Amino acid sequence: MARYSNLLCQRDGGIAVLTISRPEKLNALDAATVDALDRFFRDAGDDDATRAVIVTGAGDRSFVAGADIEAVSGFTALEGRAWGQRGQAMLRRIEALEKPVIAAINGYALGGGLELAMACHLRVAATTARLGQPELRLGIVPGFGGTQRLPRLVGRGRALEMLLTGDPISAEEARAMGLVNRVAEPGKLMAQTTALARRILRNGPLAIALTLQAVDRGLQMPVSQALEWEVAQYALSCATEDVREGTRAFLEKRNPEFCGR
Ligand code: COA
Repeated sequence: MARYSNLLCQRDGGIAVLTISRPEKLNALDAATVDALDRFFRDAGDDDATRAVIVTGAGDRSFVAGADIEAVSGFTALEGRAWGQRGQAMLRRIEALEKPVIAAINGYALGGGLELAMACHLRVAATTARLGQPELRLGIVPGFGGTQRLPRLVGRGRALEMLLTGDPISAEEARAMGLVNRVAEPGKLMAQTTALARRILRNGPLAIALTLQAVDRGLQMPVSQALEWEVAQYALSCATEDVREGTRAFLEKRNPEFCGR
């Protein structure tokens, strides 16, 4: 795989495990890291060998402690807008990827770190993780999608409490409000996240892609239009070799062997 600034990438079968690595800054996102993430996810979309991605942070303290505050501190309005657009475009690439992306939140997921985790399709957090949007404490507004993805995930009231106080919450609180899917002991975080990815990858690859697309596009449409989109995806899945294999395997009481066509 290509080299990306401040990112380490390992393969585990079809799963790419991506580690954001600036441990001396608790993996804060600077411009080079944002650009590398953008390139990584563009390449992951094109790479047939990559079937799912797990994103985590280097070390045992932090997933990502936010955008790099040093970079942000001197921004003009135009620089701030460009930075927000750059981060949003990268996160939108993750969200729209037609392969599952799971955040393994191994510590602080603050500001841009929580925004990154929320752009992923699923989130597993270590019991020790702390999640929050502390931007208002710095006198700035979240700019990588926090004001939009957080209320969509947890509802307006809970999102506003997190945004307006800036106070972080625990992994268990995050699970209770639906902000993370699962909580794991720190030593088991990667194993449990990998098991979740493998569980997903047992399913038909085309149906996974079409479902990710239906949910992503559908959430941006009125429900009536989104249902039309869903039925189009359903119809498309009816014409695949995978549906023949999946249904035949059920009837023959065996495990399916999907080919992704
Ligand atoms: N941007 C730049 N540097 C950061 C950073 C960020 N978002 N978060 C942490 N760091 C740096 C610290 O400046 C420190 O660097 P130094 O050793 O050169 O001084 C190093 O990472 C370790 O952080 P430190 O604050 O000493 O650790 P801590 O255990 O006392 O606190 C946090 C951990 C996460 C609570 C604290 O670092 C923090 O509040 N970070 C900022 C979170 C934030 O506001 N994110 C949103 C940004 S828009």
